[in-house]
Amino acid sequence: MPSVAELFETMAWGPAPEAAEPALAWLDQHGRRFGHFISGQWRATENSFEVFNPANRQVLARVGQGSPADVDAAVNAARAALPAWSSTPGHARARYLYALARQVQKHSRLFAVLESLDNGKPIRESRDLDIPLVARHFAYHAGWAQVMAEELPGYGPVGVVGQIIPWNFPLLMLAWKVAPALATGNTVVLKPAEFTPLTALLFAEIAQAVGLPAGVLNVVTGDGETGAALVNHPGVDKIAFTGSTEVGRIIRQATAGSGKRLSLELGGKSPFVVFDDADLDGAVEGLVDAIWFNQGQVCCAGSRLLVQESIERAFLDKVRRRMATLRVGDPLDKAIDIGAIVAPSQLERITQLVEDGRADGAEVWQPPDACPVDGWFYPPTLVTGVGPASELAQVEVFGPVLVAMSFRTPAEAVALANNTRYGLAASVWTQDIDQALDVARGIQAGTIWINSTNLFDASSGFGGYRESGYGREGGREGLLEYVRRMPVVSGQWSVTSSDATATDATDHWPPTTDHSFPPIDRTPKMYIGGKQARPDSGYSRLVYGAGGQVIGEVGEGNRKDIRNAVEAARATLGGWAGATGYNRAQILYYVAENLAARSDEFARRLREMTGGDGAAEVELAIERLFTFAAYADKFEGSVHMPPLRGAALAVPEPIGVVGVACATDRPLLGLVSLVAPLISMGNTVVVVPSERSPLAATDLYQVLDTSDVPAGVVNIVTGIRDDLARVLAEHDDVDAVWYVGSPEGRRTVESGSIGNMKRTWSHLESDQLSVETLPADEALREAVQIKNIWIPFGA
Ligand code: NAI
Repeated sequence: MPSVAELFETMAWGPAPEAAEPALAWLDQHGRRFGHFISGQWRATENSFEVFNPANRQVLARVGQGSPADVDAAVNAARAALPAWSSTPGHARARYLYALARQVQKHSRLFAVLESLDNGKPIRESRDLDIPLVARHFAYHAGWAQVMAEELPGYGPVGVVGQIIPWNFPLLMLAWKVAPALATGNTVVLKPAEFTPLTALLFAEIAQAVGLPAGVLNVVTGDGETGAALVNHPGVDKIAFTGSTEVGRIIRQATAGSGKRLSLELGGKSPFVVFDDADLDGAVEGLVDAIWFNQGQVCCAGSRLLVQESIERAFLDKVRRRMATLRVGDPLDKAIDIGAIVAPSQLERITQLVEDGRADGAEVWQPPDACPVDGWFYPPTLVTGVGPASELAQVEVFGPVLVAMSFRTPAEAVALANNTRYGLAASVWTQDIDQALDVARGIQAGTIWINSTNLFDASSGFGGYRESGYGREGGREGLLEYVRRMPVVSGQWSVTSSDATATDATDHWPPTTDHSFPPIDRTPKMYIGGKQARPDSGYSRLVYGAGGQVIGEVGEGNRKDIRNAVEAARATLGGWAGATGYNRAQILYYVAENLAARSDEFARRLREMTGGDGAAEVELAIERLFTFAAYADKFEGSVHMPPLRGAALAVPEPIGVVGVACATDRPLLGLVSLVAPLISMGNTVVVVPSERSPLAATDLYQVLDTSDVPAGVVNIVTGIRDDLARVLAEHDDVDAVWYVGSPEGRRTVESGSIGNMKRTWSHLESDQLSVETLPADEALREAVQIKNIWIPFGA
């Protein structure tokens, strides 16, 4: 027995185990066997599978493998519960959510122990982080339920929501999904991950205990096949998914064209950037939280250390010294830092990736004798000597593996940070506030933590840029994923005048009676990079007027034209996105002014093409331009005040290069309604104008030319809309596509988007009117992505 003095010397300590018995007793109460929770009742299952404790490989329970019939029953239950739940007053929903929050708090230790048993994460984390945050999410969203009617007037639930979650934060991911869905009046079918379904089942039990109406929350367990059945079920209105980018792609493909709403929270390879002036000891502790928290099985894990070259050696020495003190062991031991890896398949994947890296020449460092042998454990690992393009530097390992690289200048740090297909999060460590914020703006990611890492709160949206997915969870942004504007039947403007051939008072141009070809000099070209461009194909297409007469020709655009237009849009993006909102507003007003100056000519042309009320359409287009000019410097971010010493700045940023495919009717207004919000927020666009009436767009480029719109901000490619939209959707350098058109075209665009997981905003032609009259903030929200920059206050 060592003396106390010796213990102080060695700092050795014995185990401090948390008792597993209460959680095991709860499993025993259920006979270690669970069915699905559907319509407030437990439904027995035909097939089942085992769930393991990864720390000792023992079976914890058997749970049901959800069949299509189970999924169908759950979706039907959710559908049946929807009318009553969605019309339940906000205050009543708030009380349910609050009751759920309180129940989680009251049973917090049971939840924490069960989570650690099932997932292998250290009890310190499940007890101090996962479960308190779960309670916080329900309490926070109880508040949204309470104030929804005032805060989101005119909005209602999306409907029946299918939610598919991963195994790394089983109950927390449930909370992130279920709380906002229920708060806003949706009903839910949740599918937990097959490795970790137990806390979701305990949660279902407390939902029953608080009297949540039957069918409002349904839980169907099972693997990817069960998930796929839920995704494909026609009775589901929205899918919310967190998991791998690969499965995210499959889900985008499966839902393409179905009209289902979709939010995807996918993988990451997040940079942890340390400058030479950083508090290095603080940064080392941050790094421990960034990559060894939850065994590194965190979508936003700081798995790529980027350290300034001048301090690289000293910093890595500190990291290795700290790694040697990390304890890997029984997750229920309160004194351990790193628990078990969730499943053997994950352990194999981590091992394989590291060994492949070693074979490729990477240096792999692990502290000696770090791991117990009776479960699925992997030691903390530091990998050096890798190039930025190597597999280990690019692939999401999802384990306790840190890859280190160095940089010299801040610009190089940003370039390296952005050198992956992901964009989920980043940490920036420096004492220089200018540098911190500058680098934070430069890194393309949904969350940036300054001198901190892995901070989460219900008030602050979380989600990705690029292939890390789209949609946000948390905060007002997250809430908006679960609502939709309710149809309004009121005095919308009428687009087509009753007498299509009438000449209105302001338009003295005589109606066209001469059906011959227009003079050759009126054959407009495409508009790419601020220049008129001939179509690559060398073909033109005829444009017909409302009466069937030929009124012009436009170029037949193809893949190459789109490619050139995307290049032009990309080249100018930095400058346009970096311009001030005020500057962009000035330019949009100027476009409106110049369009107004030529309104007669535009009205005549519109009438000629569509037979509609051209003057009214031009007026509305001018008004829309004014609206988005107004918002260019008014659609701002917000400051979240999470319950930490700090603030999170929610900053809207442009998405990038956006492809736009316009509706057939109302060619000018349709185009302006899509292009104006995008460019007002700093995006650059490649527009495919109305296929039938493209001349409105080709005329517009003259207005753009005279209005100081920089070359490349708006590019116009005429041709067959759905063909060109497909090229845009499949183009890896296009960041989003907005589409108004046919059901078939919508499916093509949505499934074409999976290459780089671009965001799509698609509508059917029949929705065109509602797109054009949409409240501006809705289009603006689609035109930006929110970056949350977390700034700690105080030392
Ligand atoms: P996964 O993406 O396959 O699983 C996540 C969830 O999706 C689970 O509930 C699963 O049952 C479900 N699912 C699987 N296939 C589906 C399908 N076709 N349709 C609908 N749902 C489906 O992730 P997995 O296999 O557990 O882990 C593999 C790798 O994915 C990890 O090593 C890690 O790199 C990454 N991953 C990333 C996560 C993140 O939060 N970023 C979370 C989980 C995994």
